[in-house]
Amino acid sequence: MTEPTVLATFATPSLVAPDHQPAPSSNPLRLGLLASGSGSNVEVIAQAIASGQLNAQIQVVIYNNPTAKVAERAERLGLAKLLLNHREFASRAALDQAIVAALKAHQADWVIMAGWMRIVTQDLIDAFPRRILNIHPSLLPSFPGANAVEQALKSGVKITGCTVHYVELAVDSGPIIIQAAVPILPNDTSEALHQRIQVQEHRIFPLAIALAAQSDAAIYGE
Ligand code: GAR
Repeated sequence: MTEPTVLATFATPSLVAPDHQPAPSSNPLRLGLLASGSGSNVEVIAQAIASGQLNAQIQVVIYNNPTAKVAERAERLGLAKLLLNHREFASRAALDQAIVAALKAHQADWVIMAGWMRIVTQDLIDAFPRRILNIHPSLLPSFPGANAVEQALKSGVKITGCTVHYVELAVDSGPIIIQAAVPILPNDTSEALHQRIQVQEHRIFPLAIALAAQSDAAIYGE
């Protein structure tokens, strides 16, 4: 069976066509990436930078789990990486304070949560106002929180997808930048569905970062 086409993509059709590549702004964005998992989203962001689709540089990849595959991936990609193991911090706020210090030390201006599985605190949000983005494997506001793919499967919806949004304090809230829809197939498994969602995540994440940067520059200047 052929792969079904995406039924609906992009929450901002008047702004961009799906394959539009935003014009690079003059100064590369300095990204600090936060990741907890395999790091496939880290890799597509690195690829988008290498190909010129995204005018940015990755200052550091911070990860919170010593066994996360993202560490090997960052190594292979030649990216600076730093383990901040959440188990070694007394509180969420203490972890976030260490993250903020590390991001500032690496001169990151934007925080990109690329599969970050920790709840953020006001300490992180206050340190990077309007400049924290997250990717989530559902069409928010449906299915926030953990296990979003399983939640969608269990609910019986026929379409799910992924969302890139600005981060606010409430989990998986904040203004949406781009969404992509993914049909749920009969007899789908969470693994198969998540794989198809990730194909769309990899399309929209670099574009959402570029759009957020363009919007930031237009509103606040460079
Ligand atoms: C992605 O599917 C992302 O949407 C999800 O974790 C995965 C990380 O994949 N994030 C969340 O569930 C956040 N609530 P990756 O490590 O291959 O980039």
